[in-house]
Amino acid sequence: MNKKTIQDVDVRGKRVLVRLDLNVPLQEGEVADDTRIQAALPTIRYLLDREASVILCSHLGRPKGQVDDSLKMEPVARRLAELLERPVTKLDDCVGPQVESAVAQAGPGDVILLENTRFHPEEKANDPEFARQLAALAELYVNDAFGSAHRAHASTEGVAHYLPAVAGFLMEKELEFLGRVLASPEHPFVAILGGAKISDKIGVIENLLDRVDVFLIGGGMANTFLKAEDYDVGDSLVEDGSLDVARSLLQQAGDKLILPVDVTVADRFEAEAFSQVVAAGNVPRGWRILDIGPRTLELFQGHLENARTVVWNGPMGVFEFAKFAQGTEAVARMLANLSGATTVIGGGDSAAAVKRVGLDDKMTHVSTGGGASLEFMEGKTLPGVAALLDK
Ligand code: 3PG
Repeated sequence: MNKKTIQDVDVRGKRVLVRLDLNVPLQEGEVADDTRIQAALPTIRYLLDREASVILCSHLGRPKGQVDDSLKMEPVARRLAELLERPVTKLDDCVGPQVESAVAQAGPGDVILLENTRFHPEEKANDPEFARQLAALAELYVNDAFGSAHRAHASTEGVAHYLPAVAGFLMEKELEFLGRVLASPEHPFVAILGGAKISDKIGVIENLLDRVDVFLIGGGMANTFLKAEDYDVGDSLVEDGSLDVARSLLQQAGDKLILPVDVTVADRFEAEAFSQVVAAGNVPRGWRILDIGPRTLELFQGHLENARTVVWNGPMGVFEFAKFAQGTEAVARMLANLSGATTVIGGGDSAAAVKRVGLDDKMTHVSTGGGASLEFMEGKTLPGVAALLDK
């Protein structure tokens, strides 16, 4: 990696501001999935082992620039303290005199968690004065928030203009795995793309077009491709505004782009809907595609068997409904059973799917970034990474 990391600078005894992505799901006031907190531990522990004072900050949810009690950081602080087995002092704000004095009193090995950075509108506006105030709390800035690296916000980008700025271990790991897949994938290289919307994945398909050997397409986005090929998709979700771009991608990708040959359809968009498997062009009137079918899974399996690199982004169907989760879960199992292949799972829904079937530790890398991993795969520069010191 061409960016400096925490290991390239002297952290001993320093006051260090660490931007994490602690934007975790909450349920009844507690953390419902602590994956992102767990992923942040190596950087925090490294700093604590070197007697740094650790000042953590993150956003949580989308509070629109004002205090929202349901998005305060207490549940995150509680879970973090449990995992670190040491106290975590949660402050009531992320800037201002009280924060400054609490931080000034912090000693080596202390862990402070600032309040949700998005309670201030200046965070998303990347306001320089707000960034300067955050920077004034510390002597060094570590960005370990890969999941937020696509945002040019004060705590992810602006602050790096006022302090020496380096990557943490999670940031480094994410950039290495995702970067290797783009720069030097072993072939055959298969990209599995799903999710509801084709418009979200156009950039990824374009950027991977010359790199991958095969695209396996599922999820709602496949419907738009099928319709572009003149298949009757009944009442399925289709982005009519993207039909032209779908036709052009089909033309450019040729044989590389594999669409479902059969699909599981439902008579309505509900968990308990009636379902049946039909050929891709035979969706009965009034029915909609909610998953890929068994023949499609066989087809996908055939392409995956010899793969050396696999990237997966987006579920194959409406996996929130058990009846329509079979395609997504089967793909997760196929990847888990591949021997010797590098398997990289984009964050967000696909990461949630492999975790739900308990196969996350069978993958080479499961990204903690949804939007960030997608933008990285599109070949875009991530502002939170660009702002870090070059090696
Ligand atoms: C995420 O969950 O993808 C990141 O934390 C970014 O959150 P945002 O989309 O609200 O900026």
